[in-house]
Amino acid sequence: MKVLLVGSGGREHALAWALCASPLLTKLYCTPGNAGIAQVADCVPIAATDFAGLTKFAQEARIDFAVIGADAQLVGGLWDVLEAAGIRALGPSKAAAVLEGSKGFVKDLCIEAGIPTAAYQRFSTPAPAKVFAATLGYPVVIKADGLAAGKGVIIAANRGETDKAIDFMFEGGFGESGHEIVVEEFMEGEEASFFALSDGTNVIPLAGAQDHKRVGDGDTGPNTGGMGAYSPAPVLTQDLEKIAMEKFIKPTVAAFAAKGRPYMGALYLGLMITRTGPKLVEYNCRFGDPECQVLMPRLKSDLLAALLAARDGTLQPLEWRDEVALTVVMASKGYPGATEKGHVIHGLDAAAKVPGVTIFHAGTEKRGNDIVAVGGRVLNVTAIGKDVAEAQARAYQAVDLITWNGAFVRRDIGWRALKRSVSGRPCNLP
Ligand code: AMP
Ligand code: GLY
Repeated sequence: MKVLLVGSGGREHALAWALCASPLLTKLYCTPGNAGIAQVADCVPIAATDFAGLTKFAQEARIDFAVIGADAQLVGGLWDVLEAAGIRALGPSKAAAVLEGSKGFVKDLCIEAGIPTAAYQRFSTPAPAKVFAATLGYPVVIKADGLAAGKGVIIAANRGETDKAIDFMFEGGFGESGHEIVVEEFMEGEEASFFALSDGTNVIPLAGAQDHKRVGDGDTGPNTGGMGAYSPAPVLTQDLEKIAMEKFIKPTVAAFAAKGRPYMGALYLGLMITRTGPKLVEYNCRFGDPECQVLMPRLKSDLLAALLAARDGTLQPLEWRDEVALTVVMASKGYPGATEKGHVIHGLDAAAKVPGVTIFHAGTEKRGNDIVAVGGRVLNVTAIGKDVAEAQARAYQAVDLITWNGAFVRRDIGWRALKRSVSGRPCNLP
């Protein structure tokens, strides 16, 4: 089977790596890919945003199945475009990708389906939003309704910051995504992600993971796309995973089916584990990045068969390894702001030889015989181990063998899990 993977990040390299293990695969293409993906797939330089170019290529190359990595393409309707052209693809459709494309839609769905989440209201003008925010107290959370490249959430500490954030969004600070906003109660607790796969009717659990969103050690500095992750996440006990499926994921899939827009594809549930139980922070309509990089090494079953089953309505439970996977993101100086491009990366081969280590590329490019850094997040150094401590030690052993001008990492990926194994308590709660 010829498969096309759309994307170029660490998530897509992890998906490519897992797809390659499938006996069903005869040929893997990736558009546009990166230097790591190029080691396992034919990379074709078509931008993920070029829907017409992707469709033409998929038809000409006689692609049997397409996998779309990122939210922007799913929310933008690439699944619908490919399927209309006769290319089987893993969704969700544009109508179902509203799960990530509109925060207000999801909050309303939570009320309809009885899913626990923060108190909120939706607004399309600033004045009533400011009044409502004041009734919630501070801090308060202001969210642009649409996709904003992961930046559309402001946690405001006081009235001044709140009013400024609301004005900023309505004045177009986050572009079109802020034409409507959600104002919601601040939830205190520990965040975790839980992943599931749906075929529109059936939905199966994948696994839990925990990301590290802030750029600096000790969860300091600005938010990023994610600086590292591990799976499983000890905060998600078996009981909590059951609750995630029964109280969140299954009612969501059922609500989409009832609305006549069946949800097919990966579901990413962002949870806050609060004193009063888990509550929804957000949904994403795709695998997480870097969470996918720790899910794939734990997956025992055939990924391609599973994704095809999600497309075709025949999902069956999957098997997972008990080991822990942990990934450390290596980024370029300046990230999450602007970074310098073109510095040569050294030490990749030696690092890949550390036991249990797999390196997933993100912002890399091949120039001659060199692999160079061309993005903010550049590499995901991923290790399997019998526990978090072992996976962490292996990942950092490999990280320490890799260098380029301006490379940096967080040195504390996995700290919550390690702390919990001592105290047994959620980390952000006294
Ligand atoms: P989102 O884009 O919805 O994931 O929000 C980005 C980040 O903002 C989340 O990962 C949380 O850390 C934080 N956040 C969002 N909503 C809330 C909330 N209601 N209470 C506390 N933190 C939140
Ligand atoms: N790691 C966060 C995300 O993929 O949205």
